[in-house]
Amino acid sequence: MTQEITIIRLGHQGDGIAPGPIYVPRALPGEVVSGTPEGDRLADMRVVTPSPHRVAPPCRHYRACGGCQLQHASDGFVAEWKQEVVRAALAAQGIEAVMRPVHTSPPRSRRRATIAVRRTKKGALAGFHGRASDVITEISDCQLLDPALLAAIPVAEALAMLGGSRKGVMAVTLTLSDAGLDVAVRGGKPLDGPLEVALGQLAEAQGLARLAWEGEVIAMRHPPTQRFGKAAVAPPPGAFLQATRDGEQALLAAVRETARNARRVADLFAGCGTFALPLAETAEVHAVEGEAAMTVALDQGWRRAAGLKRVTTEARDLFRRPLLPDELAAFDAVVLDPPRAGAEAQVAELARAKPPVIAYVSCNPVTFARDAKTLVQAGYRLNWVQVVDQFRWSAHVELAASFSRVHIGG
Ligand SMILES: C[S@@+](CC[C@H](N)C(=O)[O-])C[C@H]1O[C@@H](n2cnc3c(N)ncnc32)[C@H](O)[C@@H]1O
Repeated sequence: MTQEITIIRLGHQGDGIAPGPIYVPRALPGEVVSGTPEGDRLADMRVVTPSPHRVAPPCRHYRACGGCQLQHASDGFVAEWKQEVVRAALAAQGIEAVMRPVHTSPPRSRRRATIAVRRTKKGALAGFHGRASDVITEISDCQLLDPALLAAIPVAEALAMLGGSRKGVMAVTLTLSDAGLDVAVRGGKPLDGPLEVALGQLAEAQGLARLAWEGEVIAMRHPPTQRFGKAAVAPPPGAFLQATRDGEQALLAAVRETARNARRVADLFAGCGTFALPLAETAEVHAVEGEAAMTVALDQGWRRAAGLKRVTTEARDLFRRPLLPDELAAFDAVVLDPPRAGAEAQVAELARAKPPVIAYVSCNPVTFARDAKTLVQAGYRLNWVQVVDQFRWSAHVELAASFSRVHIGG
């Protein structure tokens, strides 16, 4: 039976939540909506009283596509909501913070995307997974992807036609590099001789910089380099890369500001050197990262670059073997950019070592707030927090934060 309910808040997935709780995707706080309750969901949702923050979605695929969750809300509302998620996570740990204005990457700026692609009777279908379904939605007019990435979707289809099974969905990660398209495929047919030859020919015909199949490099026509400051780095296939260059620059500016007076910097969870290499323009940097292949790429990028101070690298699991106070004593700034789990073990050691400043980049406000509490209890001040939104129209929240030591001991 149809029912009218009022949305009271947004959940962490960006769904509207009504008392119950009942989850209503694509509804906004304050809206009255009607529909048929099905368990903790509302089916056939219709907006009865729209929020003043409701806007017409800019993308024509939004209704079906699961790639975006918040195109029905104004940019200002989404920015404020993301900031509030961070504020609330910190408040739950007893921390109040100065929040800097949100930095949001422009539409059509994503330089990397994982496209779902399936062989069909007629050819192949590539796009994003649909909303709460496995159906692939075609995204010919996507507002997220850089136009050069969007133009590369036929490459994903051609790959599925060669190496996709009729049953499975392949995941094709497309990344724009200085040398052209960098492509990494997962979930395709097992590699055999004929497939390898065909894939090599496809890489040549499509002018790909690199093609990797299940992590194995099939073709490398040009090193698919990314520019980090004065260095050019060729990351291993599928390695982490900030989603937009615009967001990367905003995060780097925040990190630089915190570490501006440092002569020796430790960059922890360093990836391929997004922060370490630009910071090496003014400071010596020790970059620590769990994936050895990424530290090798970082090191090679540094060796080929001119005009940088010394960069050393170390492949190390920072969850099990965090840098200890005697190792941290050498640095006057520490940069941290951990995965979603945060950096509990490493932050416990930082709380003991007390380097003068810490720049913390996080993709999870909850683990960030937990780690921030450890630092505040150890005598750090949280100077400011800035939400950097590289994933516009999604519920994903990323931030950069600056800590400095206010007193020694305690
Ligand atoms: C959010 S990414 C940041 C990478 C880099 N700072 C950048 O901006 O490109 C997190 C990095 O932490 C690394 N990582 C994940 N778990 C780790 C662990 N236990 N020890 C060390 N590094 C780890 C990942 O490989 C990844 O490169």
